[in-house]
Amino acid sequence: MADQLIIFDTTLRDGEQSPGASMNKDEKLRIARQLERLKVDVIEAGFAASSNGDFEAVRGIANAIKDSTICSLSRANDRDISRAAEALKGANRGRIHTFIATSALHMEKKLRMTPDQVFEQARSAVRFARNLVADVEFSPEDGYRSDVDFLCRVIEAVINDGASTINVPDTVGYAIPELYGDFIKTLRERIPNSDKAIWSVHCHNDLGMAVANSLAGVQIGGARQVECTINGLGERAGNCSLEEIVMAIKTRRDYFGLDVGIETQQLLAASRMVSQITGFAVQPNKAIVGANAFAHAAGIHQDGVLKARDTYEIMRAEDVGWSANKIVLSKVSGRNAFKQRLQDLGAQMESESEINAAFARFKELADRKSEIFDEDILALVSSESLAREKEQYGFVSLSQHSETGERPQASIVFTVDGAEVKSASDGDGPVDASLKAIEAQVKSGAEMVLYSVNAISGSTESQGEVTVRLQHSGRVVNGIGADPDIIVASAKAYLSALSKLHSKADRVAAQG
Ligand code: KIV
Ligand code: ZN
Repeated sequence: MADQLIIFDTTLRDGEQSPGASMNKDEKLRIARQLERLKVDVIEAGFAASSNGDFEAVRGIANAIKDSTICSLSRANDRDISRAAEALKGANRGRIHTFIATSALHMEKKLRMTPDQVFEQARSAVRFARNLVADVEFSPEDGYRSDVDFLCRVIEAVINDGASTINVPDTVGYAIPELYGDFIKTLRERIPNSDKAIWSVHCHNDLGMAVANSLAGVQIGGARQVECTINGLGERAGNCSLEEIVMAIKTRRDYFGLDVGIETQQLLAASRMVSQITGFAVQPNKAIVGANAFAHAAGIHQDGVLKARDTYEIMRAEDVGWSANKIVLSKVSGRNAFKQRLQDLGAQMESESEINAAFARFKELADRKSEIFDEDILALVSSESLAREKEQYGFVSLSQHSETGERPQASIVFTVDGAEVKSASDGDGPVDASLKAIEAQVKSGAEMVLYSVNAISGSTESQGEVTVRLQHSGRVVNGIGADPDIIVASAKAYLSALSKLHSKADRVAAQG
């Protein structure tokens, strides 16, 4: 029997540390439910001691999700560990993931501790955690840049103290595949009790090698757990991408000889949901889940694929959630067909009233757009879920005028806490005029640090998906909006970002 590779998803913890990606409890719970549908083995739900909001999110997920192990991060101290244990009480299987930095640089400059102090603290944290839960993971932060002798000493001791998973982070994304694989192998060979723990890899993507490094840690090093995030979400250049790891292991089973329990048809829905909730768009050429990942534009490729699919395709698009028949619904489609399509896409809604609301939005869209693609449905369902947060600012209507040689004008109606507000402005372009009209009323004073437009599907009939990132008083938020009219999509994205900026819900991301 082949070994099983454990998939540990940290979208809700390490992914959330990305500026602007912080989520509230409800959003985290929705993603956790999708991760459960994906059959992720371990969900790192947050960092319970970092804020009340994150504590509640971990607790809510531990109570609601029953098929995956639920994990909370915690620094190596009793208070953090107790908070994590408390938040995990309702879990079927709960795990505490405790960490402390072990590289000379981090110990001296960040922790201001001696190696002996770090050694003792790591041990007492693991012992303390083991008294509270049966499943304890230990991470030596910046492990890859740590002195190997010291690391062996710490890891051997914490395994003796009861850590059953040892995770070796490449915290700053400095590793090279072969070297990282050899590093894990060396640790496993030199540590006498290494066979008493499962070894795990955790790679950041600063040099674009997080997936390659993780795979080398598995293949060369013998790791059997990979820590990763949906869409590779994470601070700086992100974390190792879950969908890429899973499809590499499955597609090259001939080489890796490992099994993963992931329901791969749920990958696209998970990707869309995380992108919609965090406001981080997926680049079109992103492997597995990017809009172009299975598009064969070059004539010679199209010809080959039509004659025999495997001439240019190494995976089936359907296996990761793309539909073979891309035009799925139109305005004559009924509620049952819509509901069935939601199910096929893995985009389950939680109640009949939510399905009704989403169906009403679908009808509205179908009146304006003749062909409704899977991507449209996923965007619509995600915006439906976002609407549940009771956003402070809501879009109502927009008119704008632009003509060559004249300054564009926009007038907009939107709601503030349910009450309609009208505003008008000119601007450098129609989008600029529309957003200035909103800002004239809201007076947020926020700086726009990102504006991007993406076509959801391939043609000019596509919906535009706009991401807006705002920054104010050290807070960064993302808003996303989709509409066949990209100026309306821009206004929706801007209003959504403003709602997040002014939301009282706890969105403070955990900091590791
Ligand atoms: O990158 C890192 O070192 C981490 C640890 C806290 C596991 O995320
Ligand atoms: Zn990390």
